[in-house]
Formats: sequence, structure tokens, C-alpha cells
Amino acid sequence: MPADQTPVDQRTGSTAESGTRRGQRDAAAAALADVPTEPGAAKPDPILVADGVVRQFGGLTAVDVGHVEIQRGAITALIGPNGAGKTTFFNLLTGFDQPDHGTWSFDGKPLSGVAAHRVARLGMVRTFQLTKALSRLTVIENMRLGATGQRGENVFRALFGSIWRSQENEITERADDLLARFQLDAKREDFAGSLSGGQRKLLEMARALMVGPEMVMLDEPMAGVNPALTQSLLGHVKDLREDGMTVLFVEHDMDMVRDISDWVIVMAQGKVIAEGPPDAVMGDQRVIDAYLGSHHDAALTEEEEEAIIVEAEEALARERAEKEESS
Ligand SMILES: Nc1ncnc2c1ncn2[C@@H]1O[C@H](COP(=O)(O)OP(=O)(O)O)[C@@H](O)[C@H]1O
Ligand SMILES: [Mg+2]
Repeated sequence: MPADQTPVDQRTGSTAESGTRRGQRDAAAAALADVPTEPGAAKPDPILVADGVVRQFGGLTAVDVGHVEIQRGAITALIGPNGAGKTTFFNLLTGFDQPDHGTWSFDGKPLSGVAAHRVARLGMVRTFQLTKALSRLTVIENMRLGATGQRGENVFRALFGSIWRSQENEITERADDLLARFQLDAKREDFAGSLSGGQRKLLEMARALMVGPEMVMLDEPMAGVNPALTQSLLGHVKDLREDGMTVLFVEHDMDMVRDISDWVIVMAQGKVIAEGPPDAVMGDQRVIDAYLGSHHDAALTEEEEEAIIVEAEEALARERAEKEESS
């Protein structure tokens, strides 16, 4: 078959990946073929293993994960209704929040109590939605900040110190390579807040890759992205797998989950209630109940995206005005 034809997969109705993207998908599917479809199932080659991870907020138990394993080199989707604890679980695993109980290891290394930037440097990184502070930094500044595995603007300022300078060339080169790969090179000097919804998502992903991670955790990577760009974003996620990375992502759009994941884990009320291959899990009555029984997050509308951008621009203008006043 000629390489430029992309046939439609009869079973899923989705467009099959080109030959270059198939290798790891087929390998992941083969590796997971014999894994039982049950919560907490052991994987043949887990990169992440979590045990008894509990996080309470006052009287509310946001996360209560008994046992979960994430297969290396695969794309795993974490789905569940709004408030299921998905984001909190991401924050716990990556050191941005501390659990009340529990242990977990990444690549065999225990991670409980390890600070977020060290977790990132050990190879496990999560994306963040562009905050107001990050919107006021340029695209290339955001990328440099990504190299530290940290997220705050204060950290960025501190970076102008000596460690920063000693690594600058290498970091800038890496940043420019990634910007080219994500088609953001023309936006290099633009404020992140001026990017479109889809470009922000690309930047969030590119930024996370600055630490050269083995595992990337994406929290709603397609939220607020127009349909024309989702295919391109999905392609980038598949490329991460093709480059040998492990991906764990939260997504509400079931068509996308079906299209790109090798394995699906379902959370509800803090617990893992089901897991398995996409087709099996999405036909599971408990999953349907969990979804249909409660409201789930809607993606940001274009208006909401616009409001965020306007807010970022206003914040920028205020900052410039303050600077002028003080000089
Ligand atoms: N910082 C916090 N303080 C209090 N409650 C929180 C906090 N973060 C999350 N929660 C609560 O924990 C539950 C899980 O939230 P979250 O992890 O954001 O769910 P999801 O990402 O699956 O939508 C929700 O009931 C939410 O209101
Ligand atoms: Mg969430």
C-alpha cells in the first residue's frame, strides 16, 4: 500500500496511522493482550505502580486508589466523571500534592515525598494549563521554564542566575527543536497568552517535553481545541508513544480515547472502578453508569477560551503600566 494512503480502520472507524506510527501501538496492544480486564490488574512491564494512595480534603475522599499499574510504552487513558479525582491523582503522582496515605514508584524508584521538580527530572512530567502568569511569558520563556520541571513565574525569574546561564545554550537549542516539531517556531517571541486554544495545548505539551521525560501525563490535552486541530494534537500524542514514551492522559471525548489509547482506566469517586482495552471498558455497564449518572466536564467553548486570553492580555497591560509608573 502506498505510504500516502491512510485507510479507515473498519473496526473503530478511525483513520489508521501511517506505518511510522504503528510500531509502538502494535507492540503496546500485544503486551497488554493477556492482561485481565479488572481494576488493579498487573501489567507485564509497569513503569508506574501505585498502592493505597489516599487524599482527603476535609471530609471528602478525593482519591482512594488501591492498586494501579501503568504499562511502559503504552498510551493509557484515565477517564471518569467530573470530580472523580483524576486531576488530584495526577497531582499526587507528580509531587504537586501530598497524599494522606500511600506509596508509588516510577521505574522502580519510590516517589512518595519527592518534590515535583525532582519527579520531573526523574522522567515523569505532567502538563499544566497555561496559567495567567505563564500567559505573560513568551513562548520561548515558557519552554525554558519547562526545562526546570517547575511551573511558577517566580522560578523563571530566579533562573536568570548562574545555573541558568551555564545551561542556556543547550536548553535553547532543545526548546527550538521542540518548537519546530510542534509548529510553534513562528510564535517563539509571542506572549503565550496570545496563542489560540490549540496552540496553547501544543505549547503545554512541548513545554513538558523540555525535561526529556520517559512518561508524560496530559490532563485534558484536547480541551477547548477546535476539531481541525484535534487530529494534529492526537498525532503528537501518538508520536510520544512512537518515541518510546509512556503516556497517561485524561480526556472526556470517548472517540478520542478510543482512537489513541491502548488501555483505559476508569475512576469514580476516587477509586479505580474498571480498566481494560478501550472497546471492552466502554461497553462496561459500571462505566456507562458512572458516566451517565453524573455530569462531566465540558470542554471550554471558544468564548471561554477568548475570555481567558482577554484576561491574560489585560493582566499584561496592567503589568506594563505598573512598570512604566515605577520607572
Ligand atoms: N484543593 C482542593 N480542596 C478541596 N477539594 C478539592 C481540591 N481539589 C480537588 N478537590 C475535590 O476533590 C474531588 C476530585 O477533584 P478532581 O481531582 O479535580 O476531579 P477530576 O479531575 O476527576 O474532575 C472533587 O470533589 C473536588 O471538588
Ligand atoms: Mg480534572
